[in-house]
Amino acid sequence: MDLYLKMGLLLVGSVAVGASDISIYIPQVTKDIIGNITHETFVLVQPNCIFNQYITTNVWLVIALNKSFSSLNDSDLGTPVPYSSYRNGHHEYYHTLLVSAGQYPCSTTNSTLNVIQIGSETCKEKFCNGPLSNNQTYRVRFVLLNSTGIFDKTQWSNEMILQQDKPFQESIIWPSGRSGGMIVLTSILSVLLAILLVCLIAALVFGSRDICWKRTMINKQRMANWDFMSPSTYRSRRDPMYLES
Ligand SMILES: *[C@@H]1O[C@H](CO)[C@@H](O)[C@H](O)[C@H]1NC(C)=O
Ligand SMILES: *[C@@H]1O[C@H](CO)[C@@H](O)[C@H](O)[C@H]1NC(C)=O
Ligand SMILES: *[C@@H]1O[C@H](CO)[C@@H](O)[C@H](O)[C@H]1NC(C)=O
Ligand SMILES: *[C@@H]1O[C@H](CO)[C@@H](O)[C@H](O)[C@H]1NC(C)=O
Ligand SMILES: *[C@@H]1O[C@H](CO)[C@@H](O)[C@H](O)[C@H]1NC(C)=O
Ligand SMILES: *[C@@H]1O[C@H](CO)[C@@H](O)[C@H](O)[C@H]1NC(C)=O
Repeated sequence: MDLYLKMGLLLVGSVAVGASDISIYIPQVTKDIIGNITHETFVLVQPNCIFNQYITTNVWLVIALNKSFSSLNDSDLGTPVPYSSYRNGHHEYYHTLLVSAGQYPCSTTNSTLNVIQIGSETCKEKFCNGPLSNNQTYRVRFVLLNSTGIFDKTQWSNEMILQQDKPFQESIIWPSGRSGGMIVLTSILSVLLAILLVCLIAALVFGSRDICWKRTMINKQRMANWDFMSPSTYRSRRDPMYLES
């Protein structure tokens, strides 16, 4: 009984690792690297041992903007589109990383990290792996092409949202030695301004009683503040109880 069960499982296992393997594969961003997604690159797990039945077939990676990936059909994916055509806005996807399927082998040593970085090249050739656009959302899919077009393809990846360029990056390259002091000074000034603002608001709300100014200052301030007061505040200030205190 136990033996039959095991054989059954083996059989199911070997069926699953068949031709359908490619079509169920979902490209993944690696979790093994800090910086797996930056403002112009992302790092994928190599699809090792996925295409091993077609050693010599061409495998491309298609990189598409998330907003248009779902409208791409097999005839779009079957014709390689160069990076420049994506960069100049003519297409919203492109093909890159052409290799033969055998370049994603089954046997790899555990000591090497099997990843591919997308967007890492300065472009010199037509189908280069050029930089991506910051703050864009992408999806990728591997496609196998023969001479007539698409032969097989993986699933689309999940969406990958690139980082935004940081608007405050200039502050990091202030002249050395100064930046720390300037940051502290700016912080102190902001805090002082905030306190002043709170005092002003409190003064207006509570009629400037004992909040921030000394009692001796109140009378002088009162005259200066007159203009800013609504008629009701004005009246309450003339209230005998207030004048007593
Ligand atoms: C990137 O790597 C971190 C861990 O290093 C992981 O938590 C995160 O999910 C990864 N990003 C994606 C999109 O998988
Ligand atoms: C990516 O595309 C899908 C489907 O078109 C959409 O639902 C989703 O909001 C998009 N994600 C981003 C971050 O734009
Ligand atoms: C695929 O989509 C393109 C537009 O993106 C369209 O011109 C073409 O006719 C479509 N082909 C098929 C087979 O649906
Ligand atoms: C790789 O690691 C797995 C377990 O993580 C181990 O079973 C296997 O023997 C290792 N292979 C090599 C070539 O070291
Ligand atoms: C980044 O993208 C999001 C969503 O598309 C957008 O709301 C935001 O304004 C963008 N930020 C920048 C700095 O472009
Ligand atoms: C290319 O692949 C398609 C789909 O599998 C197949 O119909 C076609 O015959 C193949 N063409 C060649 C030249 O092998």
